Amino acid sequence: MPSNSAAQASLPRHVAIIMDGNGRWARKRGLPRSAGHVAGVESVREVVRTAVHIGLANLTLYAFSTENWKRPLIEVNHLMALFRGYFRKDVRELRDMNVRMRIIGNRARAANDILSMIEEGESLTADNTGLNLAFAFDYGAQEEIVAAARKFAEAVKQGKMEPDSITVESFSQQLQTDGMPDPDFVIRTSGERRISNFLLFQSAYSEFLFIETMWPDFGRAEFLAALEHFAGRERRFGSVATEAVA
Ligand code: FPP
Repeated sequence: MPSNSAAQASLPRHVAIIMDGNGRWARKRGLPRSAGHVAGVESVREVVRTAVHIGLANLTLYAFSTENWKRPLIEVNHLMALFRGYFRKDVRELRDMNVRMRIIGNRARAANDILSMIEEGESLTADNTGLNLAFAFDYGAQEEIVAAARKFAEAVKQGKMEPDSITVESFSQQLQTDGMPDPDFVIRTSGERRISNFLLFQSAYSEFLFIETMWPDFGRAEFLAALEHFAGRERRFGSVATEAVA
């Protein structure tokens, strides 16, 4: 339950997180990178539970990018094993927390069993009305935008629509985040200051927070502190501050 309505009023409608720093977290402890990813799953759990607890409406977590396939096979396989474990075990908890989960990304390259688990998770939670939780899995924003552009090109070619009728709104509806508001807050952990092909179209007016904390150290307290930081930001969407208008 949200702790108070004032805090909820300043909550972003959609938080998107680039979960970075698992490898460095592990290295600092003399552990293999895989241990960082294992610890990273615990942060996923804690952040999702916190999002539910405070009444956040939408949360997107960048779990695996289209570029992450280039990592050593052993690491890719380990990450896939973690996704299997998560989708197998945690989906019931998501259902019980009234979370509606979905995957955004390219489903064509996922292993069949992972794809089935994803589809089961989506249908098991489809009627839930609480947090909308999107995992960006084999996701790349450029690929997503190109796919939407292709759909429009095809429709125009077939004479089903005029190029002029393509708008920001209709374009957004062809993106995989359709139905979620654009993220108003994007957080990246681990000190890197890049967007790494994440929600490029949708983050046009997002506030960004780049923090030094490594993802496995990002838990409830860090998430709440980040949200407090967001509440203090002034958002202008290309305009000027209200008090500056004479
Ligand atoms: C970045 O750390 C993290 C990833 C590429 C994968 C994110 C995956 C998880 C948090 C765990 C699994 C998630 C779910 C949803 C079950 P990095 O390896 O790039 O770290 P580094 O930059 O320090 O090397």
